[in-house]
Amino acid sequence: MDFKEILEKRYATKLFDGRKIPKEKLDELFKMILLSPSSYNLQPWKIKVVEDKKIKEELFAASYNQEQIRTCSHLLVFCAELDIEKNISLLEKELSKKLPEQKAKAYVQMLKEFSASMSEEQKKNWAQKQVYIAMQTTLLAAKYLGFDSCPMEGFEPEKYSKILKLPPNLIPTVVVPIGYAADKPKPKIRFSKEEVFF
Ligand SMILES: Cc1cc2nc3c(=O)[nH]c(=O)nc-3n(C[C@H](O)[C@H](O)[C@H](O)COP(=O)(O)O)c2cc1C
Repeated sequence: MDFKEILEKRYATKLFDGRKIPKEKLDELFKMILLSPSSYNLQPWKIKVVEDKKIKEELFAASYNQEQIRTCSHLLVFCAELDIEKNISLLEKELSKKLPEQKAKAYVQMLKEFSASMSEEQKKNWAQKQVYIAMQTTLLAAKYLGFDSCPMEGFEPEKYSKILKLPPNLIPTVVVPIGYAADKPKPKIRFSKEEVFF
């Protein structure tokens, strides 16, 4: 499938057939998601992968009973990481392998100042924006690898946190069920070029 076809054929799947995505394909997907860009390369996301049927049933009830949640093969819960300091340390380790020491130090110092300049609310807003970039990679990569997906904001984050026992530094932001579609795509409805570009 070429890139244009992926864009045309991907659609928000409302029902999956319950078949499991093979592990090798999942690993390929995860590697592709890791290539997502992020501001300062801080990658402020953690993605909880849910396969367990019972947990998916619980999350279904916390997602306005949307069938994608319990019929998918795997549910990816994209969480914003609020512990930016932890990510700065992680990045510092990676940078030190690839950059001269002084350069890495200067970059890390700049990141620390960036993090310190934000309130908790600003950190959350910033991290949540980054999460959507990884989400979009997921939707396109899934289609490329031969399966389907649905981006979803229709869920109750507090209930997800409880069910998945998430620590307070992780904020469920958007979820993406993946699997094999059991529904059919509808014709695409999009605004015209003239409406959007000016
Ligand atoms: C951030 C985001 C949240 C969405 N949340 C839901 C959702 O909770 N349930 C759902 O069925 N579709 C959801 N959608 C899917 C959109 O309705 C869908 O992408 C849009 O109608 C365009 O259709 P298409 O993706 O099939 O081209 C969401 C899409 C995005 C990007």
